[in-house]
Amino acid sequence: MLVGKPFLTVEQIRSRVKELADRISMDYKGNEIIAVGILKGAFMFFADIVKLIQVPINVDFLVASSYIKTRTTGEVIIHADIRENIKDKHVLLFEDIVDTGVTLKYIKDTLLVRNPASLKICAFLDKKTHRQVELEPDYVGFAIPDKYVVGYGLDYDNKYRNLPYIAVFKEDSSL
Ligand code: IMP
Ligand code: MG
Repeated sequence: MLVGKPFLTVEQIRSRVKELADRISMDYKGNEIIAVGILKGAFMFFADIVKLIQVPINVDFLVASSYIKTRTTGEVIIHADIRENIKDKHVLLFEDIVDTGVTLKYIKDTLLVRNPASLKICAFLDKKTHRQVELEPDYVGFAIPDKYVVGYGLDYDNKYRNLPYIAVFKEDSSL
């Protein structure tokens, strides 16, 4: 067994996602959001949260990677850019997890030069212990300890993304 029992259950995730969506709906009241899902990891979180946000949303995607198996390569690759023109628009990025912060910092800097009216980050999970750059998500689902987790969009070697809950992943079989 490589994947443990749920660390965050379907029910915990559902209720936290609703809370985040309510916060975002309040904060952006009267505005339109360009909501950018960062793929692949954020696909499930993004699909769930956009359904619950109560302000007009323009959905877009950005495909990026920096991880091989359980380690960051430190090099961020943008495989596919957003298609929307974000100048003077309110942009909200949705990411699965912030670890070193390198990926989001790179994406944020790349988008900021396009002069959006605002650019904020909503991360489903936040692992603060490994942070290498200054990067603070504006909205966080759960702060988690230094464990490698899978499920709810997050992968190990592109597997386990389809689990409906978050589980701790171990490369050995000691679970
Ligand atoms: P960062 O650049 O180190 O902040 O890494 C962010 C990216 O690494 C995330 O978008 C994930 O794709 C991946 N990542 C970091 N930690 C985990 C984890 O515990 N499980 C699965 N993917 C992770
Ligand atoms: Mg990711």
